[in-house]
Amino acid sequence: APVAPQPITTLNFSAVSKSLADRFIVPTGYTARVVYRTGDPIAAGVPAYTNAGTDDPATYDRRAGDCHDGVEYYGLNDAGTARDVNGSNRGILAMNHEYVVPQFLHQNGVTAGTTRVQAEVDREIAMHGVSVVEMMKQNASGAFDATGTWGYVQNSARNRRITAATPIEISGPLRGNAAMVTKYSPTGVRTRGTLNNCGTGTSFWGTLLTCEENWAGYFLRPSATDNLNRSAKEIFALQRYGVGGDRYGWSRVTAANAADQDNYARWTATVTPGATAADDYRNVANTFGWVVEIDPYDVTAVPKKRTAMGRFAHEACVANTPVVGQPLAFYMGDDSRGDYIYKFVSEAVWSADDANATNRMAIGDKYLDRGTLYVAKFNADGTGTWLPITLAAVQAAQAAAGGTPAYVFADQADVQLNTRLAADALGATPMDRPEWGAVNYATRDIYFTMTEANASAGRTGRRADNIDGANPRFYQDQRGATPSGAAATTNTGNTFGHIVRMAETNQNAGSTTFNWDVFLFGAQADSDPARVNLSGLTSANDFARPDGLWFSPNTGLAWIQTDDSGALLDQTNCMMLACVAGRVGDGQVLAAQPASTAAVGSTPAGAQLAATRVGRQVTESTLKRFLVGPLDCEITGVIETPDGRTMFVNVQHPGEDTPNAAIPTPASYTSFWPTAEKGAAGATPARPLSATVVITKTDGGRIGS
Ligand code: FEO
Ligand code: CA
Ligand code: CA
Ligand code: CA
Repeated sequence: APVAPQPITTLNFSAVSKSLADRFIVPTGYTARVVYRTGDPIAAGVPAYTNAGTDDPATYDRRAGDCHDGVEYYGLNDAGTARDVNGSNRGILAMNHEYVVPQFLHQNGVTAGTTRVQAEVDREIAMHGVSVVEMMKQNASGAFDATGTWGYVQNSARNRRITAATPIEISGPLRGNAAMVTKYSPTGVRTRGTLNNCGTGTSFWGTLLTCEENWAGYFLRPSATDNLNRSAKEIFALQRYGVGGDRYGWSRVTAANAADQDNYARWTATVTPGATAADDYRNVANTFGWVVEIDPYDVTAVPKKRTAMGRFAHEACVANTPVVGQPLAFYMGDDSRGDYIYKFVSEAVWSADDANATNRMAIGDKYLDRGTLYVAKFNADGTGTWLPITLAAVQAAQAAAGGTPAYVFADQADVQLNTRLAADALGATPMDRPEWGAVNYATRDIYFTMTEANASAGRTGRRADNIDGANPRFYQDQRGATPSGAAATTNTGNTFGHIVRMAETNQNAGSTTFNWDVFLFGAQADSDPARVNLSGLTSANDFARPDGLWFSPNTGLAWIQTDDSGALLDQTNCMMLACVAGRVGDGQVLAAQPASTAAVGSTPAGAQLAATRVGRQVTESTLKRFLVGPLDCEITGVIETPDGRTMFVNVQHPGEDTPNAAIPTPASYTSFWPTAEKGAAGATPARPLSATVVITKTDGGRIGS
């Protein structure tokens, strides 16, 4: 990505107010239009989506998936015939469909019972994965027109869906490994499908990097019985990753045609007594949890799971601008409470010719199949260390710790497969749920959102006895000026989230040390400025639970998206803010705050804020709310055309909290967006849809200017 040619350093648009309307709201002077909704047909002859749960399941692999998430843009020339990295009138969007809101996919909601209806499961499998879809400016009859308005091209030969059933190659160190052997691939070289694709990244040779996040919950694995047939080591690893849960019950189908049964049986990740790994799907979960590379310019290219980049709940994968002769670095978060930040450093050094090569998947083989994975350790003094995740380093750490290791690694492939266990052994810093990373191309600093670590649903939040500089807040009730009431004594944790940033030593991708600070703290504007609202937020920019994060290579602005499930939801729906970023070290050191005199639940008394290095306070000219989404949604995924004049933003799962039982009573849906507006006079209730929104500035200017 180029450094911003004309960085925007002051935000001049009018802030969008917090909103609880069922509407997508952008600042005055901007236009927002829905262009790509769940179910939209992306092939010739596929009928328009009824959005009534009555469409033919066989068409769903040629429709937009559900729960739009990370999105990337790949430019084309105006004729649509070739890749053009500067193409800003026509291009390909590649986007994730993280999961499904199943009650809205079927006519009467999900059919109740212990078994599942095949047609319903077929829809749900197809609505997962990735869309590759051509977008262009067009006239009213759908022909290319550089002065027209953006829309997708239904009949484009470039369109493609990758679903939870698409064949995908296993690439890198786990290819052909015994741990990858399944009935589908007895040689352990391929699998079917990609799951729970959350954040994205893009390579500098024009491919999509899509990240498998909460894949572990999709498999049926009754642990009490399956554990009887597993080694202690296997059980330990399965538990660390949480494999099981049977999220949608896809294995509970009896296929009408016996030949199809394997499509459903493969979601049962259990050992069949007396069988071999090539006879069942005991290993199927090992084929998920990876970064997957897809060539958006070639519909025939087989996607590859890049196993050198580690296996965890991958949130996103971002690369710094390559430097000729240096290795590439890709930064990745593991979005789970107390999990880690990683980077992968390629063995190959960057060659500028590769940026425009046409054998893109082979370039991916070159950079993404061999290299070193590292995990981050944050020190209290503002320095940090990248710990190499190698067999030798892990064994040395285990020896130094003494005693019996929790897990004995067989070889380097075992280390790659069980990345989390290796990082545990190395002593990486547990973080407050690392979501997206992003690179500030102007400074080469790397930013990561820590979305939250609150106490909820039986989970313990960040506590007084385990705060550290990079995760410095645990505070009972992070709302209002003074903690009080029951929440003050029962609710510990980092409720609002924060953003950490890192600067590689010498700005070199291969460095094993870095400096860091906390860039920004989420907060309610009227919360305690000494312990909670540490960044000085106002009603024009207060936010909770940062998740999506992206820097525009054109304007240099950072875009922060929220996935709030309760911290600020009584005041506003989820949102996106624009931010002018500084650089690591431009702030201050905040001292630890003393404990309140109130008891804090069962947690030990201690500081309510760890001493931390904090980026400078923001103002309304450096952080401003740019949009607010409709009811019961998450705003996630943002990309621009290279000219900075068109932005694509995804609205995920509006209305997802609508109970299955409410399907016959549309008026009770928690959102009607984008078809109608719940709460508006005379609105006709409609099933809500995830969708991509295209944003332009009415005067044709750059977004955020
Ligand atoms: Fe899918 Fe961590 O968000
Ligand atoms: Ca996310
Ligand atoms: Ca999230
Ligand atoms: Ca989500």
